[in-house]
Amino acid sequence: MNLKIALLAGDGIGPEVIDQAVKVSNAIAEKFNHNIEWTPALTGAAAIDAVGEPYPDETHDICQAADAVLFGAIGHPRFDNDPSAKVRPEQGLLKMRQKLGLFANVRPTFTFPSLIDKSPLKRERIEGTDLIILRELTGGVYFGDRGRKDGGDTAFDTMTYQRFEVERLARKGFEMALKRGKKLCCVDKANVLEASRLWRETVQALEKEYPEVEVTYEFVDAVAMRLIQWPKGYDVIITANLFGDILTDEASVISGSMGLMPSSSVGSEVSLYEPIHGSYPQAAGKDIANPLATVLSAAMMFEDFDLKEEAEAIRSVVNKSLAEGVVTEDLADGGKAYKTSEVGDWLATNI
Ligand code: IPM
Ligand code: MN
Repeated sequence: MNLKIALLAGDGIGPEVIDQAVKVSNAIAEKFNHNIEWTPALTGAAAIDAVGEPYPDETHDICQAADAVLFGAIGHPRFDNDPSAKVRPEQGLLKMRQKLGLFANVRPTFTFPSLIDKSPLKRERIEGTDLIILRELTGGVYFGDRGRKDGGDTAFDTMTYQRFEVERLARKGFEMALKRGKKLCCVDKANVLEASRLWRETVQALEKEYPEVEVTYEFVDAVAMRLIQWPKGYDVIITANLFGDILTDEASVISGSMGLMPSSSVGSEVSLYEPIHGSYPQAAGKDIANPLATVLSAAMMFEDFDLKEEAEAIRSVVNKSLAEGVVTEDLADGGKAYKTSEVGDWLATNI
């Protein structure tokens, strides 16, 4: 297969973890006879510095012309501490999601046999967890009306959803559930929010089209609790943009390290693959960041190209590295801490 991949390394540890995913993907391409053409493009603070814009048009064109986008991370403390900054790296991420129409963010949570005891949660609660949070990504409070009034003393952000936005996400959720545990949970705050009531109404109307899927409705505050009490109770969760943002950070703790969880963002055209962790600026340039979430995001990419064996080869070499202790300092636990680049080299060689 010939694949054209846009490579958006971004900020902080982004370039370092992306390098390892490229090494691993190239090793896969060699082994399985594929040809990958990588096209790097600027995003985030790096793009602001170069061209004054966090998601330049040129980057958008490169993404649109690609078969997929592999993305590192975005964000820089220089902007976090400056509330008056006019352009922020994160705006690039949001603009990219919107312009590429990436309305569904797929964030899986699973455990690694060799890491179960690294999780702060008890083994018996988390062992065997395998769930997907399907987060709406181009609507809700992230993109609703916002502003200031009363001379700046009142601020507002609005959560707006249209029926079609909920419906297209819910359909993806139902279809995913059909291929997995056949359970779908709609997570909302319908006891308070009108937008959530629209979510429930819309999902309820779809239930009869998917009679094999068992559907439940739960409030987001309760799910925040149940997710860590009994994550095995969930299969596919669908939820609004902000709720999904919060719950997926929470869920990442189940696996033992935030450095492990991959994600994909899909829409009607090109899809994007990225680790769920952020740019971790404190570690930037030190060659210490865990590259596995990005490497596993590349596995999700191969899977979506229907290259199942390739995806499996990546997952299995990652499991092997964990079992053999070829890990970065976040997982080293007193043992040897490998560098980011060493983990990448090891994975590529073992493929
Ligand atoms: C994420 C991040 C982003 C979000 C930020 C960086 C804008 O936290 O991808 O989860 O809130 O969506
Ligand atoms: Mn987040």
